[in-house]
Amino acid sequence: MNAVQPNRRGISIAGVQVTYGLGSPQAVQALAPIDLEVAEGAFVSLVGPSGCGKSTLLKVLADLMSPTQGQVLIDGAQPSTLRKAGRIGLVFQQANLMPWLTVEKNINLLKDLVAAKGAGAALVPDQGTPQSVEQLIEIVGLKGFEKKRPHQLSGGMQQRAALARALTLDPSILLMDEPFAALDEITRDRMAFELMRIWQQYQKTVIFVTHSLAEAVFLSDQVVLMSARPGRIHKIYNIDLPRPRNEDTRLSDEFIRLVSEINRELYKVMLL
Ligand SMILES: Nc1ncnc2c1ncn2[C@@H]1O[C@H](COP(=O)(O)OP(=O)(O)OP(=O)(O)O)[C@@H](O)[C@H]1O
Ligand SMILES: [Mg+2]
Repeated sequence: MNAVQPNRRGISIAGVQVTYGLGSPQAVQALAPIDLEVAEGAFVSLVGPSGCGKSTLLKVLADLMSPTQGQVLIDGAQPSTLRKAGRIGLVFQQANLMPWLTVEKNINLLKDLVAAKGAGAALVPDQGTPQSVEQLIEIVGLKGFEKKRPHQLSGGMQQRAALARALTLDPSILLMDEPFAALDEITRDRMAFELMRIWQQYQKTVIFVTHSLAEAVFLSDQVVLMSARPGRIHKIYNIDLPRPRNEDTRLSDEFIRLVSEINRELYKVMLL
């Protein structure tokens, strides 16, 4: 097991293991010890069979749960410190917008909550630069929809608002759990493209969970393939496709080769 590296920027995961219901007869070991280093600003996708612990690992990174064993540092800080200061951006499959609030109020919600709590911002080694709601609305392509309520938006637009909300406090990392899974295929491809554009602008460290290998290869610097429960890292693929990536990327021989190689390996791990 590696030790976490306190002065390192990016994400350092050392010996993280999770057992749900520890000590009970129904205990489920979701994650075998995981060691992973993610460079600052990298875009990394997690793929693997259903139930292999991808969401569990994201929850540990987001400080939504503590690992049974092991440690995580994000830009040298504990996830709990960053979470309290609103500096972990989260986007899930559902946008989870407040139905009674307008788009701009939804986007500002996190900022307002953190400000109201006076949450430990002073504890964070280097604070981010909060983004203005106007700027974020522009970036995610929701201009003209500021005063609309969530039910007046399409699924893709709701996810754009969720992404803007996640970016408000200039997060150290952006954690995304199947953010486009509920969208139709055309919107989904478009959103992947938009996300790549936004990521190139912000250069955030992103951990992105998906079941679409094509989406993972298109977006990522690295694709981490996990094996079935208890989840472990089976293989890490470096994706050296040139950036900026575009429609031609998806048609290139190297792209197709990478997707089929990971797909073959995924089938192997499903049989393990
Ligand atoms: N709160 C919980 N209590 C008990 N077991 C849980 C809990 N949450 C998850 N698990 C179990 O832990 C394992 C990993 O779950 P997790 O949701 O992390 O998988 P996943 O890789 O995200 O799956 P999927 O691709 O289907 O979203 C699964 O076997 C699941 O049943
Ligand atoms: Mg999941």
